[in-house]
Amino acid sequence: MKQLDLLYSGKAKSVYRTENPGELLIKFRDDITAFDGQKKDTLAEKGSLNAGVSTFFFGILEKNGIKTHLVRKIDDTSLIARNLNMIPLEVIVRNIAAGSLVKNYPVEKGTPLNPPVIVIDFKDDTHHDPMLNDDLIFALKLATPDELREMKRIALRVNDVLQEYLGRRGIDLVDFKLEFGKKDGVIYVGDEISMDSMRLWDKKTGESLDKDVYRTGQGDVITCYHRVAIRIIAEE
Ligand code: CDP
Repeated sequence: MKQLDLLYSGKAKSVYRTENPGELLIKFRDDITAFDGQKKDTLAEKGSLNAGVSTFFFGILEKNGIKTHLVRKIDDTSLIARNLNMIPLEVIVRNIAAGSLVKNYPVEKGTPLNPPVIVIDFKDDTHHDPMLNDDLIFALKLATPDELREMKRIALRVNDVLQEYLGRRGIDLVDFKLEFGKKDGVIYVGDEISMDSMRLWDKKTGESLDKDVYRTGQGDVITCYHRVAIRIIAEE
């Protein structure tokens, strides 16, 4: 598969065209950012760790009948993905209160949220990813009612599958973010599912095993990502 011109470069991934217009090459870079891009670093191996975990999670979802953009992984940091029409929404599922929920609402960190809470942000850096509601999503024509229903349904299915999988490995799935895209009227999970896009807490110690280690400067990010990747991917 030939890597052709760069189509898009985000904060941590670059997307290239390939010879097949239906497929893109997604390269996970070693860049990491937080706080709306105000904190930035490049950490060796981070791209390959997130590419590995994302590919692994997409595989689990596919096994459970959930459609994802993954076609195949081609090297340590790159995968081939379906070329989707991306929907500019960040669909966040929360099982335990943390992050912006705790910052913006009177709820204590660690409070279980049952049933899980879905929060949808507008993927729009110039407006700092503001939170949406269903009416705004329709008014701004970001998705139709059917598409929104389908994205919420898939997000909760993904939550069930990942929560169960991680739970068996002693990890609490606190929250995570999904992005979706469309192709031929079908909605697929796109983007990535990695330590950068989820909060994971060790069930025993409560220790963060995700990007919060970087956000808070609590420890060595790559050592943490490495350990959690092994815990996630290693055979049972
Ligand atoms: O983490 P932050 O305070 O920026 O936002 P949040 O609303 O608490 O994030 C909820 C979950 O979505 C966390 O697991 C974030 O890592 C993830 N997220 C993301 O991957 N990308 C964003 N642009 C926003 C949140």
